[in-house]
Amino acid sequence: MYIYDEIDQTMVDQRVNQFRDQVRRRIAGELSEDEFKPLRLMNGVYLQLHAYMLRVAIPYGTLSAEQLRKLAWIARKYDRGYGHFTTRQNLQYNWPKLEELPDLLAELASVQMHALQTSGNCIRNVTADQFAGVAADEVIDPRIHAEIIRQWSTLHPEFTFLPRKFKIAVTGAETDRAAVKVHDIGLIAKRDVAGELGFEVIVGGGLGRTPMVGPTIRDFLPERHLLSYLEAVLRVYNQLGRRDNMYKARVKILVHETGAEKFTEMVEREWEQIRDTAVDLPAGERERIAAFFNPPLYDKAEDAAETLTRQVAGDADFAHWVETNVAPHKADGYAIANISLKPIGGVPGDASAEQMDAVAALAERFSFSEIRVTHEQNLVLPHVRQDELYAVWQTLKSYDLHTPNLGLVSDMIACPGMDYCALANARSIPLAQEISERFADLDRQYDIGELKLKISGCINACGHHHVGHIGILGVDRKGEEYYQITLGGSGAEDASLGDIVGPAFPYDKVVNAIETLVDAYLGVRADNERFLDTYRRLGADPFKEALYGVN
Ligand code: HEM
Ligand code: SF4
Repeated sequence: MYIYDEIDQTMVDQRVNQFRDQVRRRIAGELSEDEFKPLRLMNGVYLQLHAYMLRVAIPYGTLSAEQLRKLAWIARKYDRGYGHFTTRQNLQYNWPKLEELPDLLAELASVQMHALQTSGNCIRNVTADQFAGVAADEVIDPRIHAEIIRQWSTLHPEFTFLPRKFKIAVTGAETDRAAVKVHDIGLIAKRDVAGELGFEVIVGGGLGRTPMVGPTIRDFLPERHLLSYLEAVLRVYNQLGRRDNMYKARVKILVHETGAEKFTEMVEREWEQIRDTAVDLPAGERERIAAFFNPPLYDKAEDAAETLTRQVAGDADFAHWVETNVAPHKADGYAIANISLKPIGGVPGDASAEQMDAVAALAERFSFSEIRVTHEQNLVLPHVRQDELYAVWQTLKSYDLHTPNLGLVSDMIACPGMDYCALANARSIPLAQEISERFADLDRQYDIGELKLKISGCINACGHHHVGHIGILGVDRKGEEYYQITLGGSGAEDASLGDIVGPAFPYDKVVNAIETLVDAYLGVRADNERFLDTYRRLGADPFKEALYGVN
């Protein structure tokens, strides 16, 4: 893992002190709420429906056991004993008290964490593939470049007041687990024919009220030019982004209105001015950063696979979990263990302090003290010996962290919705819970297979509904909660936006509607065909007919 140097630590510590004084002045009445608002937002402090909310950055989804323990400790001391993992590898505390926030931030700083740039019109927390460094299909560990981008973008003076927020995601693998095509900039590491390392650069994807799958503006950017090219994109956006209209201010609108080709020309022209200057990394710096991400010293673990086979044969519940939640690892004898934060009937993405402590302890014992956070609101132990998976699973079981549902219908993304969010039209969490309970039978979920269901409480799309195989969007109909259903979205390497299937449903009809859709799929799917592929093959008609009786 990357370890802060003095520059990183000083920056974070100074911000805590600065914010402490700003909070003092707010409480003393020296600052009005209006004056205080931009200051708190620069430190990740939002005002929700009932209370302040603090959004903590987990850069590229990597946490140490010590950091996760601290998050648990903070949840107990300053919140109500839990935290919420979000789709952008952040953790949200829903109930911190304003007067305690400076102390809370100081605690975070003591473990090299902060809430900088988790709000406001700046470059937000950079996200990456949660299997970085361990994925079998990886070209390069994307954390190296995510960390380089983190350092470049943190308090970057030119990009502190962009037209709107700006989100960057990086993946180093063929399978896109970081939703790079629906980010302001998505980077996919690849090698050219000569074996040189570089990136495909995608600009102008995004969700929200105008969802877009981003176009590729450069097929191959040699790695050494990464920062100057990003700087060129940001400069064009900073100058030309629609500051006149908040709803048109994201870079996706600029790319769309300008046309991807013309936008690319502008970026390339800007880049010509700054490439091969001090903006790019000096020699040796990439290697210095890469060294932090060297693989841990794996054991030989020669008999591990055999032991696992025996354990799987002896315990059907464990076998289900291995089948669904465990992924292949680069190193022989090791595995990646996914921890579902979606127990049947639970709140997607929530973890109690006890659960966080338990996962931290497991990481210390079995995963080189490392944990990852996924954009699908789950956790990962990235390096577990195959013959230790059984012990991990048994502990997970005693903390209700063992649900074997990764990628299945109950592994939903849901935004906070009306339970917390001041912008919501409708509730997301109770709906997610009811759907999960309706599909509680795991055999039924296995039979249905991969199905990504995503719920947002309003058009801002924090719950990624546009890219759900089934998406659910809360809308307001004369003060009542209604839900529009979209079908056929994907946030992965085959990214697409879902189509609205028909008139919205009131709250109490949504769970039945989802079940109707699933049954319709089961009736027409071909062998081993995912819900998404059936939809792509047959289109909306069979689903419309099932839902509305017409096509
Ligand atoms: C106080 C609570 C929140 C507020 C006020 C809020 C506000 C917003 C707004 C206004 C947008 C639309 C931005 C645009 O289109 O320009 C947005 C997008 C988004 N938010 Fe949230 N959000 C909140 C919580 C969350 C949570 C909990 C998550 C993760 C579960 C999240 C993840 C996202 C994502 C992924 C997007 C869409 C991606 C994109 O920016 O295009 N947000 N949010
Ligand atoms: S999608 Fe809407 S309701 Fe849900 S968290 Fe985002 S802003 Fe709030």
